[in-house]
Amino acid sequence: MYKFYLTCPRGLEDVLQKEINSYITQSTHIDHGGIHFKGTLEDMYRINYKTRVGMNLHMELFDGTISNYNDIYKTIYRFKWDEIINTNSTFAVRTKINSTIIQKQNFCTMRIKDGIVDKIRKKTNKRPSIDKRNPDFYVFVYIKNKKMKVFLNSSGWPLFMRGYRTKIHKAALNESLASGILMLTDWNKKEPLYDFMCGSGTFLIEGAMLAFNIPPRILREYYAFKKWENFDESLWNKVIKEENNKINYSDVKIYGSDFLSNNIKIANDSIKKLNLNKYINFKISDFKKIIPCENKGIVVTNPPYGYRIGDTERLQILYKNLGDHLKTNFQGFSGYIFTGNLELLKHVGLRTKKKIILKNGMIDSRLAYYPLKSGKF
Ligand SMILES: C[S@@+](CC[C@H](N)C(=O)[O-])C[C@H]1O[C@@H](n2cnc3c(N)ncnc32)[C@H](O)[C@@H]1O
Repeated sequence: MYKFYLTCPRGLEDVLQKEINSYITQSTHIDHGGIHFKGTLEDMYRINYKTRVGMNLHMELFDGTISNYNDIYKTIYRFKWDEIINTNSTFAVRTKINSTIIQKQNFCTMRIKDGIVDKIRKKTNKRPSIDKRNPDFYVFVYIKNKKMKVFLNSSGWPLFMRGYRTKIHKAALNESLASGILMLTDWNKKEPLYDFMCGSGTFLIEGAMLAFNIPPRILREYYAFKKWENFDESLWNKVIKEENNKINYSDVKIYGSDFLSNNIKIANDSIKKLNLNKYINFKISDFKKIIPCENKGIVVTNPPYGYRIGDTERLQILYKNLGDHLKTNFQGFSGYIFTGNLELLKHVGLRTKKKIILKNGMIDSRLAYYPLKSGKF
């Protein structure tokens, strides 16, 4: 068994734990921004392939107690780096520090890097190169007070990078966050799902993959663990095959719209790559023109909120119109608004049943839930 630490967007730790508990048997423990657990190589492959909420899966190499920068160097130097990182490859070091004794992050990162290079050079007379942008090995060191934990990132690129985007929409949601938000709603994956300000369509694409059990990284080839000495290709292929066999298409209705044609083009390009064109309907429209043909379902939307696009006064009117539109035309539905502007939420004018605190990157955000049942306003 190996020790793992899987990170996620802040606020989604419980959702991540529930997700991972559904397919590994070992117990999991929540830590800031992620979960710890023990697992096998197969668990590592499975999680990298199918977690929807997880962001980086780190495998723990060792831990130690440190009191100063020299201890950090010595603890790092003691490890058998020459058996992990070969001299033809590249590596990068990332540190996360929460300590009163170690505060110079750059210096700390440099000492770690020196420890790794010196050890490999001593054993092999050669040294690997540093590549901060696209390394073969990602070493992640977490220091909390006097405790240091050293991990190897098995994912490499963060797991929100699914591989279905052809172009980036400037206000697109992180896919792991969008998936986690859907898991926080009361959507049963059978009733219609709407997002009438869908941008690049993240909620709807993630929603379709969730409803049909499509592994979120079905299109992605790259994972850091593929370069590891212990990479077991047949085990990896077995995991992919097992997970792909669980895909199960249904006739759930998924509707997306946005008033900008460029956004709808990005969304359509993504669903083409995933062969989901039959299942998601995207169209160019102002949200006020979207009237559902069903009498129940769910709306999950992420309106503009000013930090990235738009301006306050216009947005106050937009949020008011959004509330009016939900109230008038989506009775019987569950309404969810995700926003990073808490002031603007007040302009929706509907009674919230629940407001969930989440982080969108550095932005303090809320997922507000409005049950739009008749007579509840
Ligand atoms: C924050 S972005 C949504 C991003 C989206 N969740 C994604 O992941 O790509 C807000 C979107 O609302 C759209 N929008 C703003 N006003 C609109 C309106 N009146 N009708 C339809 N869409 C609108 C914008 O074009 C923008 O794409």
